[in-house]
Amino acid sequence: MGRIRWLGHAAFQITTNEGKQIYIDPWLEGNPAYPLKGEELEEADLVLVTHDHFDHLGDAVRLLQGAKARAVGQPELLGVLEVEGVPGEKLLGMNTGGTVEVAGIAVTMTQAFHSSSKGSPVGFILHLPAGPVIYHAGDTGLFGDMKLFAELYNIDVALLPIGGVYTMDPLQAATAVKLLSPRVVIPMHYRTFPALAQDAKRFARLVQEKAPRVEVVVLEPGGQWEF
Ligand code: NI
Ligand code: MN
Repeated sequence: MGRIRWLGHAAFQITTNEGKQIYIDPWLEGNPAYPLKGEELEEADLVLVTHDHFDHLGDAVRLLQGAKARAVGQPELLGVLEVEGVPGEKLLGMNTGGTVEVAGIAVTMTQAFHSSSKGSPVGFILHLPAGPVIYHAGDTGLFGDMKLFAELYNIDVALLPIGGVYTMDPLQAATAVKLLSPRVVIPMHYRTFPALAQDAKRFARLVQEKAPRVEVVVLEPGGQWEF
């Protein structure tokens, strides 16, 4: 059985049905919401980072020390990883609109509206070999082209920021849910710091209004959704 486990903030560990381990925005030991401090994690097959802010780049370099681990990302972001000592052969460049396959998992890169030091911020759509299709929006404001992702990819699970201040707030994120029309939405990037003190209940109420067929799954850090 596969699972999506929330590691707090924008960090997720996805385990495929085949047992592959994917980490997205793995800000771990420094993350106040990280639930597994000091614990060993499963070795990564694929590491994805949406942009180079510290709360997303996090422990990516450490996870990429594993023998199998590889990263796909924008060339500029991969450059940051390389400077930190990740060998070039573990890094696969791509850019917005592209899809590459690593460890049997097809990864599509999307735009995101935010800032970064190197390259531009992105989101990822993961096409797992036996399903589901998972969209991690990264840090972003709302944009209408999310509707096109729904048309193109039939998204099963959307991982969306709701914290406001640096990203979409519950109102924008609930509107994003309407555009994306996933089966399930899991809110993220909230509650980590006082500035991001949002209530997932408000988000769930707004989704109920705008996209009543979508199931809102509110996880606690460390909690998981199985597929
Ligand atoms: Ni950011
Ligand atoms: Mn962030």
